[in-house]
Formats: sequence, structure tokens, C-alpha cells
Amino acid sequence: MQLNTARVLLTGASGGLGQALARQLVQQGAQVLLAGRDAAKLQALQTQLGDAASVCVADLTQAQGVAALTQAAQAFKVNVLINNAGVSAFGLLHQQTWPTVEDVLQTNLLAPMRLTQALLPYLKALPHAAVVNIGSAFGSLPFAGFVAYSSAKAGLRGFSQSLRRELAHSQIHVLHVAPRAIDTKLNSPSVNALNRALGNASDSPETVANAIVAALQDKHSELHLGLPERLFAWLNGVAPGLIDRGLAGKLATIQHHAQDQAQAQNIQP
Ligand SMILES: NC(=O)c1ccc[n+]([C@@H]2O[C@H](COP(=O)([O-])OP(=O)(O)OC[C@H]3O[C@@H](n4cnc5c(N)ncnc54)[C@H](OP(=O)(O)O)[C@@H]3O)[C@@H](O)[C@H]2O)c1
Repeated sequence: MQLNTARVLLTGASGGLGQALARQLVQQGAQVLLAGRDAAKLQALQTQLGDAASVCVADLTQAQGVAALTQAAQAFKVNVLINNAGVSAFGLLHQQTWPTVEDVLQTNLLAPMRLTQALLPYLKALPHAAVVNIGSAFGSLPFAGFVAYSSAKAGLRGFSQSLRRELAHSQIHVLHVAPRAIDTKLNSPSVNALNRALGNASDSPETVANAIVAALQDKHSELHLGLPERLFAWLNGVAPGLIDRGLAGKLATIQHHAQDQAQAQNIQP
């Protein structure tokens, strides 16, 4: 995929990974439509990026938000859709409210499916197009304390692979990305403390953005960041019982940090 002629719709552009991606895409010569809910953050980024960027404010959990973004994307003449917007919710399932679980599924899975579906007829008519779905290592290595998030990201992995197979004879390239932890505001202080306690590595948004841009340029289908995470994801596929036992040994640590998170949110145990 040539990025110097690309026109990209980037959701979650106001977030940590989104801002790094927007900068690197523009450096490669792409025009970027920055999408998110936080108008002030999007405007500030657009000011830094200049003529190469435009802004569309929309809430992806709302049907009218998806419709507005679909319309703006076609007016912008996008040929690359990057489904990057996401929310996380660390905590034990029985301590989470149903609206929280629904929001995680809606934002991370249903919204990217809906936006992609709305843009597909338009993208299919173009000579070159791409759909990039930003998933997570938890989509292949589902984790205790992240039940809703892991379920959504596993769903996004399934969506990406089935869509790629459905579009096999089209000119639309589908890239699924599974980063491990990234240093952004998505992770609460309790999640950062958990990652430190478990020895989980965290990448900078710039490192992840750089790998995504390269994978898009080279037309890779899958990008999974981190060697240990890739090995554990593979092991989870062939021998999930081993991962069950390994994670059971870490459950007390996860529960301890989930308790901290619940206290910070005033949730009763
Ligand atoms: N950080 C990590 O450890 C990590 C690891 C693996 C994968 N990822 C994935 O990487 C992607 C980017 O995350 P990040 O780390 O950059 O998180 P972030 O800094 O919290 O940014 C999240 C972005 O999603 C947008 N967003 C959330 N809900 C939305 C909604 N209802 N409608 C429209 N936009 C919405 C936010 O926009 P507004 O603020 O403008 O509403 C923000 O731009 C996500 O898909 C995440 O799951 C992150």
C-alpha cells in the first residue's frame, strides 16, 4: 500500500496510539481524517499536522456517529480505514456494571464492524483500499481481569480474519494488529501496577505506530507485537490448559490489583 497517495480515516485519533499513528502517516505523505469524541484534542492535533489532516467528531457507540463518520469519510475520499478507537475496563466481571461491559463490546467490536460494513460498498469500488483493525494481544491470549476486553478483541480478530477471507478476490487488504501493552492513558494506574508486578513489557505508542505503518506498506495480514506474547498466544491455541494453569498461578496478583481498581472507582467487592 502506497501511503504517499493514501487518504486515511483514523478512529481514536485523539488517543495515545492514534496521535502517534496520525503523525507517522502524515510523515509518509498520507492525508488523514482524524476521528474521535474530544474535539479540542483533535483540533490541537490537526493544528500540528496542518493541511494533511481534517477532523470529524463522532461517538462510535451511536448509530448517528457511525453514519456521520461514514459520510465524512466518503467526502474525504478515504481509501484506508483504521479502526483504532477503543476502551478498556480492568476488573473482575462480577464487579463490573453491565453498561461497562456493553460499552467495551460496543466500542471495540461492534463499532468497527458497523463502520467497516457501512464503508465496504464504497471501498470495493476503489482500485486500492485497506481496512486495519487494532486489536490486542488479549484477543489471542484472553486474560483474567479483562473478560469483556479480551472477548471484544478476540471477536475483532475473528472479524478481521473472516472479512479478509470474504474479500479474498477483492482489492481490499485487511490487516489485523495485536499490540501488547502500550504506554497510553488507556491503562489505569492499577493496570500499570499489574503489568509491573507480572513483568509484562510495554511499548511506546511511537514504536507500535511505526510497526503498523510498515505492516500496512508491506501489505502484511497480521502484526503481533512482542515475542513472548506471540509464543504464549500460539501456546494458548494448541494447549490452552497450560495457559489456564500458568495464569491460575498469577490470579491472586490480578485479583489484588483488580481490588485496587474497584476501590479507585468506589465499587463494592
Ligand atoms: N494501551 C494499550 O495498552 C493497548 C494495548 C493493546 C491494544 N490497544 C488498542 O489500541 C487502540 C488505541 O488505544 P490507546 O492505547 O491509544 O488508548 P487511548 O489513548 O485511551 O485512546 C483511545 C481512543 O479511542 C477513542 N474512543 C473511545 N471511545 C470512543 C467512542 N465511543 N467513539 C469514538 N472514539 C472513541 C478515544 O477518543 P476520545 O477520547 O476523543 O473520545 C481515543 O481517541 C485501542 O483499540 C486499544 O484497545 C491498546
